[in-house]
Amino acid sequence: MPTKDTFAQHLSRQGVSRRSFLKFCTLTASSLALPVRAARVIASTLSSIPRPTVIWVSGQECTGCTESTLRSFDNSIESLILNEISLDYQNTLMVPSGSAAEAARLQAIAAGGHVLIVDGSVPSRDAGAYSIIGGRSALDVIQESADGAALIIAIGNCAAFGGIPKASPNPTGAAGVDDLIRSGDLAYSGPVVNLPGCPPVPEVITGVIVHFLTFGVPDLDPLKRPLAFYGQTVHDTCARLPAFEANIFSSSFDDQQALAESFSQVGTAPCLLNLGCKGPVTFNACSSVKWNGETSFPMFSGHGCIGCSEPNFWDRPGGFYQPLFEVDPPR
Ligand code: SF4
Ligand code: F3S
Repeated sequence: MPTKDTFAQHLSRQGVSRRSFLKFCTLTASSLALPVRAARVIASTLSSIPRPTVIWVSGQECTGCTESTLRSFDNSIESLILNEISLDYQNTLMVPSGSAAEAARLQAIAAGGHVLIVDGSVPSRDAGAYSIIGGRSALDVIQESADGAALIIAIGNCAAFGGIPKASPNPTGAAGVDDLIRSGDLAYSGPVVNLPGCPPVPEVITGVIVHFLTFGVPDLDPLKRPLAFYGQTVHDTCARLPAFEANIFSSSFDDQQALAESFSQVGTAPCLLNLGCKGPVTFNACSSVKWNGETSFPMFSGHGCIGCSEPNFWDRPGGFYQPLFEVDPPR
């Protein structure tokens, strides 16, 4: 890996104070459910290691994951961290194009030890003709970029599990990165971390990068999702959980009576289970970490979870609005 500034040096040049840097380390340790002393280890590691080289390749995607990762914060330290990793190639955002962009990617690969981020699913039907980057299939470009990578992070449901492009009848043969490795279509023997969601929570991406740099690959569940962020269902920490436990359920999206009753009884809006919420079977950090600078998450805003961090959520029998199981509200 070429000699580069450390995180701390780079952040300092951006006007981020040591105090803010330490606060970020503490919050990251907390979001990863690590003990307080881990914040000191994170601070000391990020102060001494070179910025990691990151190659980000997009397959079949809607750019929502890129938007979520890089545009959700204004002037936050998380944003600075993401801007200050050595993001040597990102085919949506980078200024160079054409052969200059490809040269930057090849230079980063040659150094080795990079982190490869993939968003979007990867089609393999018809020689990968349904996702082309610089005249080559996304599968080809990802294979080349995976050589020598220290870690692959599959961002979003599409890269992790195939997402919407893989929805039946999957005309392009779309698949997630790990599926391709298991089927032998992609050769890679290093670690893979899946960060599903449509899109994923930005702090989850930052937290995983920091954990990898400081302690290595985080503990993962059987679907290769980091347990620190995907170890609980969104139901477990939902703001409407008191209503669920008090048997207060909305029967329509404009159920004003239930809304008023629930506010007076439990101080929360009614549970959205009968409107199709998939929160009880969906593992993600939306209701604990929240979105847009801890402002909100789907059930907080009045819509049930559609299960976007789970495999095949798009093809779930009954669709988004069929209840997992229906509960009669008390009369
Ligand atoms: Fe659980 Fe969904 Fe009800 Fe929230 S709205 S308590 S996630 S069922
Ligand atoms: Fe997705 Fe459900 Fe979170 S729909 S954004 S996992 S609340």
